[in-house]
Amino acid sequence: MISQTFIRELLERADIYEVVNRRVPLQSKGANGWACCPFHNEKSPSFSVSRDKQIFHCFGCGEHGNAIGFIMKYENLPFPDAVEKLAQECGVKVVYDGKSTFNRNPEKPRLTDIMERAQKYYRNRFLDNSAAQKYIKDRGLTDETLEKFGIGFAPDGWHNLDSVFSPDDRKLLIDAGLQREGNGGSFYDFFRNRLMFPIRNIRGQIIAFSARTMIGEEPKYINTGDTPIFTKGKEVFGLYEARRSIQEKKRVIVVEGQMDAIQLSQAGFGESCAPLGTAIRSEHVERLLKMTDHIIFSFDGDTAGRKAALRAMDICLPLLEDAQKAVFVFLPEGEDPDSLVKNQGPEAFEKLISQGLPLSSYLIESTSRGLDLSILEDKGAFLDAAAPYIRKTKSVLLRDGLIERIATAAGYKDTDQLARYFGFEKVAPIAPRPSGFRNGASARFGKGGFGARRFNTPSSGKTLPPKPETPILVLLRNFLRYPQLALEFEGAATEHLSSGELG
Ligand code: GTP
Ligand code: MN
Repeated sequence: MISQTFIRELLERADIYEVVNRRVPLQSKGANGWACCPFHNEKSPSFSVSRDKQIFHCFGCGEHGNAIGFIMKYENLPFPDAVEKLAQECGVKVVYDGKSTFNRNPEKPRLTDIMERAQKYYRNRFLDNSAAQKYIKDRGLTDETLEKFGIGFAPDGWHNLDSVFSPDDRKLLIDAGLQREGNGGSFYDFFRNRLMFPIRNIRGQIIAFSARTMIGEEPKYINTGDTPIFTKGKEVFGLYEARRSIQEKKRVIVVEGQMDAIQLSQAGFGESCAPLGTAIRSEHVERLLKMTDHIIFSFDGDTAGRKAALRAMDICLPLLEDAQKAVFVFLPEGEDPDSLVKNQGPEAFEKLISQGLPLSSYLIESTSRGLDLSILEDKGAFLDAAAPYIRKTKSVLLRDGLIERIATAAGYKDTDQLARYFGFEKVAPIAPRPSGFRNGASARFGKGGFGARRFNTPSSGKTLPPKPETPILVLLRNFLRYPQLALEFEGAATEHLSSGELG
């Protein structure tokens, strides 16, 4: 936890005028600074910054807040990172209280510092290596893109870093993953004869490198291993560079390769990023969903791409909130985003995005693929395939919607029964009547479903028989769970209750 006192002191020390002015040049008028609002589109300035009150306020869109709030919004950073950033700009160190003080590693700032110095070195080596420049030119990257991503080159040789770092830096070089210990107490450079792609954390600090061979060596990419400042499975390549576009466009594009992210960014899709040498994971998606409600996944059109898409769906379902969406875009076979925008232009990619499948459609499509839903057995297979996904869907809206779609696709009229089969109770019918489906389902699906429990064959004696469920209990439970139903059914319910029909 960041100390509250520290936050107060930081806000006293920082001048919001300076903080904003560094990012959005302000016009001084009276006591305030003015600019066109960075948070909505406008032609004349209604965004003001007050030195006296140390706040910003937009009279156009109503956005307002203090210096930390401004950085959060402008840089699309979560609170603790915005505090870190502001502290950095004010030249002070964040004070933490409670437990996490113990977790703070005093070596971390020194490690990011050494990475920064290494990157400068790699950058300069790139500028004086014609082979590296030719390779990059052939791949179509502009100087602006090289600058934005800080792309460099590690020359061939085992001891290049020794020429720029002092022996005192040895431990840091090792800890940062830039050098390794060889035999007999010697040390050697980890990255040799490779293009260097810096990996930045969301605060913009360099925490690792991804290095690509230019001469067809295996492996194609080498990444920094886990270090005190870098956990490979958690970081998303290009997220720092993409953060402002993500906010402006209100979406993020996730691609499979870092070169794809860079190439898309150059083609006008600044909101692109890529997981690092791994398939997409929960940690990545969680991080992205904190920044935007709309994730677009781009997959290669081959079997590997389809597999990756299933995995992404599996990861997204427990994380997506009601108002968030994931869209799945499949590229034509043999293309990746890099080649696609190069061969067919950015419009072609935008078109593919607009034709992308929302997760809901992809779920139905992928779980029913190859099945003939007019055949009873295939319907069962369809439900079996969809069930694990439905059960892990966090958004109730999405879940209920999916159940309805599945019901329609499989031709079941009673979505409530289907909901119960999946283990959820939607709106229970007031007087349930056993139907063919339910008996079929219980026979087929054993004890799993709600329907199965209720219509099971007599208990074998191993388990207690289920509590008898009377319609009135079902009704009351649903009223408690969905209070709006109580209003909707008020008349009908009292009628039934007073007639004694439900007891
Ligand atoms: P380019 O060939 O430079 O266009 O890269 P790519 O992104 O198209 O490569 P590819 O589709 O082969 O791989 C996708 C992603 O997987 C890469 O961006 C890397 O993050 C990762 N990757 C590929 N090859 C390797 C490898 O040999 N080692 C590691 N660690 N990661 C790799
Ligand atoms: Mn590629």
